[in-house]
Amino acid sequence: MLIKIKQGWEIPESRATPESVFHNRRDLLKAMGMGSLLAVGSGAAPALAAAATADPDPSAGLYPVKRNETYTLDRPITDEKLSTTYNNFYEYSDDKDLADAAQQLKIRPWTLAIDGMVEKPMTIGIDDLLKQMPLEERLYRHRCVEAWSMAVPWSGFPLKAFVAMAKPLSGAKYLQMTTFQDPKMAPGQKSFFYPWPYIEGLTMEEATNDLAFLVTGMYGHPVPRQDGAPLRLVTPWKYGFKSIKSIVKFSFTDKRPVSFWQKLQSSEYGFWANVNPEVPHPRWSQATERVLGTGERKPTLMWNGYGEHVAHLYDGIKGERLFT
Ligand code: MTE
Repeated sequence: MLIKIKQGWEIPESRATPESVFHNRRDLLKAMGMGSLLAVGSGAAPALAAAATADPDPSAGLYPVKRNETYTLDRPITDEKLSTTYNNFYEYSDDKDLADAAQQLKIRPWTLAIDGMVEKPMTIGIDDLLKQMPLEERLYRHRCVEAWSMAVPWSGFPLKAFVAMAKPLSGAKYLQMTTFQDPKMAPGQKSFFYPWPYIEGLTMEEATNDLAFLVTGMYGHPVPRQDGAPLRLVTPWKYGFKSIKSIVKFSFTDKRPVSFWQKLQSSEYGFWANVNPEVPHPRWSQATERVLGTGERKPTLMWNGYGEHVAHLYDGIKGERLFT
């Protein structure tokens, strides 16, 4: 059993989080006498039955895939039990304990739309996409803006391979990604105070950087629903909220996307969200992180340790909040 004695300077984890935005808004709504509308926001529909009956993932036979040894870790891989039971997926709950509820997510059929500034807009089913993409495994660190971290063997393919398939026009400057929207299978989406659907974005330079990875599996299996099945992003040099889950749409655009958290609280969450231990969140320090599983406090690394791959992307960008 892990017992962690909090230092005086540490704020409780429940407050060091996009979650706290939720609670602030919840308090506000309660004060306005609108508390009853919040019930759906907890997303805690008893889903144990759903967990038992969720359809198996038809892509299971593709895994495990060969590891790309370029990316190494400075710490042990996080126990799979932890990274698949301690999650952020607000479509299901504002609590971390949402794995059962997320089994309501129906992962087939699953179609991806590719639109906006591309040679030819198209749709493609996830299984057809999996046949075309170069699957590999990568070990990446993950640093949540809430100051916890984990290390995961993700399977998937480089986002740049997907971008090449999509054939964006030369004028496209950004890639906007969108999560499904279906309140019937994601009770959290009944909450009107969240700006659904979840949206995230990258510049084209970021999207075609070697590190940007589209995840379809983890620990040698298909990625589970609670971790963003059947397709999610990971950008390990950025805070974890950039890693949008259960993507259904990729839009190429010349307008900078406004992400979910940015819409909710732009004073705290911005477009870039790069990891920098020296730039505190407005309400807490980002200097250290709590390692999931051991509870150890480790110093957070600049660019989460991935500077050699990505620091150059930001040369010459002035007057922008690169680290929030
Ligand atoms: N994507 C969607 N669609 N909805 C979410 O609530 N949470 C984000 C990100 N992607 C989120 C999401 C946050 S805050 C984090 S830290 C990571 O997913 C968590 O990924 P994990 O649950 O696999 O650890």
